[in-house]
Amino acid sequence: MSDLPETFDEVFLVSERSEWLRRAFPPLLDADLPPEVEPFSFVPMSGLEEIASAVRPGPGGRLVDVACGRGGPGMWVARRVGATLCGVDGSPVAVASASRRRDAFGLGSTARFVVGDLADTGLDKGMADAVMCVDAFQFTEDRDRAARELRRVLRPGGRLVLTCWEARTPGDVDVAERFATLRCDQVLRDAGFTDVDVAERPAWEQRRQAVYEAALDAGPSDDPGLTLMQAEARTALAGMPSVRRVLVTATNPTRTDGS
Ligand SMILES: C[S@@+](CC[C@H](N)C(=O)[O-])C[C@H]1O[C@@H](n2cnc3c(N)ncnc32)[C@H](O)[C@@H]1O
Repeated sequence: MSDLPETFDEVFLVSERSEWLRRAFPPLLDADLPPEVEPFSFVPMSGLEEIASAVRPGPGGRLVDVACGRGGPGMWVARRVGATLCGVDGSPVAVASASRRRDAFGLGSTARFVVGDLADTGLDKGMADAVMCVDAFQFTEDRDRAARELRRVLRPGGRLVLTCWEARTPGDVDVAERFATLRCDQVLRDAGFTDVDVAERPAWEQRRQAVYEAALDAGPSDDPGLTLMQAEARTALAGMPSVRRVLVTATNPTRTDGS
């Protein structure tokens, strides 16, 4: 019987108790990551910098981080570009943790975090100058609806940046189901986004592999976060050559069709 967590709330409760996830994982992913980021994702420092360049909300602009988790990547980007931040996540545990962590970034009241779904954030239409979504789009049960929701939240002309994985061969049965049929380009265009660009980032994938190998090399442990990473490594390592790591950018067009 497995005692691995089954919901993201349980996962984030584990991560709060895991010294390995907070202290060992980030430098394994990238020694240049500032310690306060504490990501729950596989985007290295160069990736956060790319996201910051691509979102372009402008100083004082409004950045929304959808599926923000404990908030680190979004808070780092908001601080870098001088934007206000609203983070949204389906896990109340993650949202509470992100709210507690604002001071670590010196953001205070310029950052807020709310519970909401990728496909139904509860945010006002057009309230964001930019939207980011790190390593989470694959989890939505309705991709088309989620893509329309990301666009709804963006003002006309606003930018979306999303990091994800796609199967190299669409429909590949050996790839986890949530990636097998995901085509970010198609789903975003169908939702009405323009300037959709899907760029592969193989160097990020090498870092993910290094994290998995280090986790397995660490052997049996009482740390629940390390145990979790070891379980993920056992299932994900073999499938890595069949997926491609992508950084996706898109624009909500200024000319609207009334939708
Ligand atoms: C791999 S974590 C990434 C978290 C964060 N973006 C980061 O980089 O640290 C995936 C996140 O997606 C959130 N999530 C999964 N499905 C969701 C949904 N349908 N709506 C909102 N959030 C969701 C989880 O709670 C989790 O925080």
